[in-house]
Amino acid sequence: MLSKNMEKALNEQINAEVFSTYLYLSMAAWFHSQKLAGFGHWMEAQAREEWEHTMKFFHYVDERGGRVLLGKIDAPQAEWESPLEAFKAAYEHEKYITGRIHELVALAREENDYATENFLQWFVTEQVEEESSTGRVVDQIEMVADSRQGLFMLDRELGARGRQG
Ligand code: FEO
Repeated sequence: MLSKNMEKALNEQINAEVFSTYLYLSMAAWFHSQKLAGFGHWMEAQAREEWEHTMKFFHYVDERGGRVLLGKIDAPQAEWESPLEAFKAAYEHEKYITGRIHELVALAREENDYATENFLQWFVTEQVEEESSTGRVVDQIEMVADSRQGLFMLDRELGARGRQG
């Protein structure tokens, strides 16, 4: 059985993961509006991953005899100044989520909730990947700087996410 504190914190994380889904969908919509379909595709794949994270928390709370309670989801930002600004925002968002996961681990330890601490380890590892993948695209955009051709090539590369063998 989850403690009330842990249940509340996990429910708040469900909200944060749904918001992440929403944020990346918003970024996908913005990239599509900029005619950068590859970037848009990458963000759609990212949004799907966030939904998977949401459902992992959802099922975990349920499995531990907790009650999933859904709160209000804030509207995400809709416009960014450039692809670089959008990806920098994604990278910052992942760092924020990493901080939240670490706080959950600290709470699980405080509560001697070993099962939740163990469950959260998957997310600790996942956040290393999440920061690395968004940070890598920031670096790549910075490398092509203002080159339209470079951006076009990058758009094609990002459009291949999840489509390669
Ligand atoms: Fe659910 Fe991108 O971390």
